[in-house]
Amino acid sequence: MLSYALFACLSVLVAVLFLPPDWSVNLGKESQKVPAVRLLSRSELSLYDGEKGSRGLYLAILGQVFEVLKGHKHYGPGGAYHCMAGKDASLAFITGDFTKRGLIDDVSSLSPLQVLALYEWLAFYQRQYQHVGLVVGRFYDENGQPTEALLEVEALQAEGQKLKAQSEVQKVHFPACNSEWSSGHGGRVWCSTKSGGVIRDWTGVPRKLFSPVSGHVQCVCIKDSSTAEDEPSLQKFDGCPSDADSCMVAHDQVSKTSPEK
Ligand code: HEM
Repeated sequence: MLSYALFACLSVLVAVLFLPPDWSVNLGKESQKVPAVRLLSRSELSLYDGEKGSRGLYLAILGQVFEVLKGHKHYGPGGAYHCMAGKDASLAFITGDFTKRGLIDDVSSLSPLQVLALYEWLAFYQRQYQHVGLVVGRFYDENGQPTEALLEVEALQAEGQKLKAQSEVQKVHFPACNSEWSSGHGGRVWCSTKSGGVIRDWTGVPRKLFSPVSGHVQCVCIKDSSTAEDEPSLQKFDGCPSDADSCMVAHDQVSKTSPEK
């Protein structure tokens, strides 16, 4: 045991004696070094499309490149998502347009909530696949620094997060109504203690609310009918008493309500 330890100590001593004098300095520098990020041009990325003779199987999203070899059945030749290999087709992750026109990295047409969904895809690749580097072009410059386009997308993502948080708060404060439609009686919306999937100790009264998130007018349940009087975005249903928990509606008064839960 002792001779083993002695051998180990002597080995360290010999190693130190034969190492270059600036060894410790180098070691210090090395341990502080941030690994250089690999930068790929678009054409270099296209060499990694998984086709026969290609260099490998990569995919990029929002300018970040991932090695997707373990998802070969999806991205390799014959796979449903092969068209996304060897390129940054960020837009197609949201539009589902897998034509040449849709397989592009220009995401300036996306809404804040769509950008948020795109970042969920990015998080998926970060979880599932190995990060390889960055594509020089739309989102990163030749020094690997974020471009103006990326900063704009990040701003939209932040806006999307706000909108999502608002809609979650709204869902609790203003749960959706139940609704039914029959050709004989027309439409009816009503509130219950479970409507909109929000279980609560109050029923509420139906009101029309314009949702900036969906861009539609929807039926929501308001706890206190007098609160609704002061809120211009909340409208009574035509011909329905302000304290009624059920209203008959014309077909075009609301565009979307959720079923009873
Ligand atoms: C915007 C439209 C869509 C996009 C961008 C999309 C994208 C993707 C991607 C990238 C994968 C591979 C994920 C991985 O690496 O594991 C995947 C898997 C899958 N997709 Fe889609 N998809 C879309 C729509 C659909 C639709 C409409 C269906 C169903 C009809 C569908 C069914 C599936 C299934 C079943 C898998 C998993 C296959 C498996 O694990 O074997 N996708 N999708």
